[in-house]
Amino acid sequence: MNSTSPQPSASLPATDAASAATDPARTALLDALNELLEAERAGARVAMETGRSISEPALAALVDDIHKDEVRWCSMLMRTIKSLGATPSSATGAFHGKAMAITDLDERLKFLNRGQAWVTRKLQALIPQVKDAQARADLTDMLQAHHQNISRVEARYTAPATVEPTMAPQTEEPPVPSESVALIEHILTRFHEVHRRQLPELIQLATKVEAVHVDHAAAPRGLTDLLKSMHGELLEHMEKEEAILFPMLARGGNPFVVHPIGVMRAEHADHAQRLAQLLALTRNAMAPEDACTTWRRLSAGVREFADDLQQHIQLENDVLFPPFESPRG
Ligand SMILES: [Fe+2]
Ligand SMILES: [Fe+2]
Repeated sequence: MNSTSPQPSASLPATDAASAATDPARTALLDALNELLEAERAGARVAMETGRSISEPALAALVDDIHKDEVRWCSMLMRTIKSLGATPSSATGAFHGKAMAITDLDERLKFLNRGQAWVTRKLQALIPQVKDAQARADLTDMLQAHHQNISRVEARYTAPATVEPTMAPQTEEPPVPSESVALIEHILTRFHEVHRRQLPELIQLATKVEAVHVDHAAAPRGLTDLLKSMHGELLEHMEKEEAILFPMLARGGNPFVVHPIGVMRAEHADHAQRLAQLLALTRNAMAPEDACTTWRRLSAGVREFADDLQQHIQLENDVLFPPFESPRG
């Protein structure tokens, strides 16, 4: 049964609904969204069923995070499909059966990661074709989260001796405070200050790599320009937060604060789209086999920056802003 057939929206006039139902671009979009939904549902079940048998706390937490993410993307995809006036598929992708047939835990997790990589390729092809801004932003968030989870699983299966040098010394992550003033302070030191160091260094490395490896097939052409644009946009965004929004939140917020928060959320969606471009241009922050030290440092730095920016956006969108958007009492 193919449950991807578009259903005309009840809110559309009959003629509009009929033409929407036969629009080939819309049908292709719905097919792609339903294919992703079935894959995410399969991934969620694999992560949930696998998580039950894991006793190691760090690995259990990682698989639990993947499960929660997959469930979240299922909800988002169903919402998007419904917003197009269609009925979401209720099927589970064949990936579930294939993954659960693998009895070795490590091999199953590697297989799950290959499934996640398949999703990123589908998303990279789909996102440029999506016209609706909200759906594009949601799918870009989904792409970023997948990149992040792939890296976390890869890090587990990469021998420490082959890990590339990163731009900054690795330190243990400080705990994230829950109280708003302390959380703002944390965001400023852990993310704003870090981005201000990361981007100039990445621009310098990208400039060298683009110049020296101009003839290399995998050279990240246009990366320096992209990083310069991201640097400018991010500086402007962080300055707005530091000068306007964060002081308002630190004073306890007010009924009008939802407007600047809305602007920041929209800019976060733009940043997430830039991140998707950055990862596509750098082959998911992977240097080629024959890359020199500078190129490897660039790739490791891009990965670190991408992970940081993703966390930064999630922390503001999901933790800092919500209490001020629907204040209690
Ligand atoms: Fe910020
Ligand atoms: Fe922000």
